[in-house]
Amino acid sequence: MRIGQFQLKNRVLLAPMAGITDQPFRRLCARYHVGMSYSEMMSANRDVWHTEKSRLRVAHHAEIGINAVQIAGSDPLEMAQAAALNVEYGAKLIDINMGCPAKKVNRKMAGSALMQHPGLVEKILREVTAAVEVPVTLKIRTGWDKAHRNCVEIAKIAEQSGIQALTVHGRTRSCLYQGEAEYDNICQVKQQISIPVIANGDITSAEKARYVLDYTGADAVMIGRGALGQPWLFRQIEAFLQSGTLIAEPSLAEKCQVALEHIHNLHAFYGEQKGYRVARKHISWYLDNIKPDSAFKRTFNTIADPKQQLYVLEEFLDSIQ
Ligand SMILES: Cc1cc2nc3c(=O)[nH]c(=O)nc-3n(C[C@H](O)[C@H](O)[C@H](O)COP(=O)(O)O)c2cc1C
Repeated sequence: MRIGQFQLKNRVLLAPMAGITDQPFRRLCARYHVGMSYSEMMSANRDVWHTEKSRLRVAHHAEIGINAVQIAGSDPLEMAQAAALNVEYGAKLIDINMGCPAKKVNRKMAGSALMQHPGLVEKILREVTAAVEVPVTLKIRTGWDKAHRNCVEIAKIAEQSGIQALTVHGRTRSCLYQGEAEYDNICQVKQQISIPVIANGDITSAEKARYVLDYTGADAVMIGRGALGQPWLFRQIEAFLQSGTLIAEPSLAEKCQVALEHIHNLHAFYGEQKGYRVARKHISWYLDNIKPDSAFKRTFNTIADPKQQLYVLEEFLDSIQ
């Protein structure tokens, strides 16, 4: 699949997830053949651009591949400036977030709240695509609520405004993350526009990825929560899409090694104070995969020292191999 001048490695992408898809996690996913990954969303509000949090959110590493940065906001000019600034700092692709359901974001009329205002959507998309030379992509939901599923309308606006690929999460904003993602609306979007369409929502296995691609006709799939604690999922899906063969999961030893390396990298990336906190949720997800229902998971979160955290985890993983 191509987006602008970029030929993606394959059709299995990592979803942007605030607090999760940071540089260390994206590097791991790249090692396990993710087709492309996006940064965590970066606010278009210039007051926060120079904070440590913003700097870390868009930190890139050559191993990740295409440096795709997601921006969120509602003011067309502010969004255009944010896009241009990120390109100046090295972004090679800009994604616009119109899918986030968080109240904090929606109150500022950003994220999925924008889908209620197609006129404003068009202004934002036109300003941003005019402000940068790199490809601009858009991520949406199917609509604000079930009575207002306007993803086809927004998709057409996107195509006419110079957007080069569109991701659709198969839920409305009011669905939040409840119920099951539906793919009929994604199918309709695909039939109505000719830019690449990326299907997203509840894809957690190779078979499901195949099913969603076939059902929707989408050009690619995007995986979010399914990759937590198992970045190797991308390699399995890629192999299945290519050959129809389900390859084996990595060995327990490899999984343990990946988990340890990930935690080590989080400590290095976020520093002493923050690293061990960010690491906790990842460890919990790895354990769900490696050793579900272990009592260790419950005691682990009380540790508030990075060295101790790594030491105790290493001991535990050694003990189960
Ligand atoms: C913790 C978390 C953070 C997220 N942050 C973002 C974000 O920053 N930008 C965005 O467009 N979507 C965000 N999303 C939505 C995901 O990109 C994705 O659309 C959603 O999780 C559905 O895909 P999945 O079922 O594969 O997880 C987030 C989702 C989760 C669970």
